[in-house]
Amino acid sequence: MTIEKLPITLATASPDETEAVGAALANYLKNNNINEGFVAMRGNLGAGKTAFTRGFASVFCPKARVKSPTFAIVNVYRGETVIHHLDTYRITDDDDLYSTGFYDMDEGFIICEWSENIEYALPTPRYEVSIEYAEGEDRRNITIKEIN
Ligand SMILES: Nc1ncnc2c1ncn2[C@@H]1O[C@H](COP(=O)(O)OP(=O)(O)O)[C@@H](O)[C@H]1O
Ligand SMILES: [Mg+2]
Repeated sequence: MTIEKLPITLATASPDETEAVGAALANYLKNNNINEGFVAMRGNLGAGKTAFTRGFASVFCPKARVKSPTFAIVNVYRGETVIHHLDTYRITDDDDLYSTGFYDMDEGFIICEWSENIEYALPTPRYEVSIEYAEGEDRRNITIKEIN
């Protein structure tokens, strides 16, 4: 799968396909010589945000073992570039966010699950990834756009 331009909406029918969309976004960025930035993901529990991140990381940090950072809040993967994988599900205020080191993450990518919880702290420009449940248990619609 390749992404030629944004915005785009893609339908997936399995976790592997959602991973492939994450990898396609990373390859799109890489092909445009972009090796840093902020990816804000939104979507309910089980939508596939961690699956998407696994695919995204497979391009820049192929050796990374991507797991949900829900309890750790942030996982760091290293490869061609660094990826900070955040899950802000449990973040309730800016002090909380500050204590994760969020404001010192100034290299590589930040890819954030539950970014709707930290709306006030989201930078521009950024990429927004919305994963929505579709008809059928394993179907999702993924919309990726650039916010400037
Ligand atoms: N099309 C799909 N894309 C992503 N995950 C899917 C899809 N269909 C079923 N699933 C299942 O949904 C769950 C997604 O989990 P995960 O990526 O951890 O979601 P989130 O991080 O959004 O909570 C997994 O159990 C996965 O097997
Ligand atoms: Mg998750």
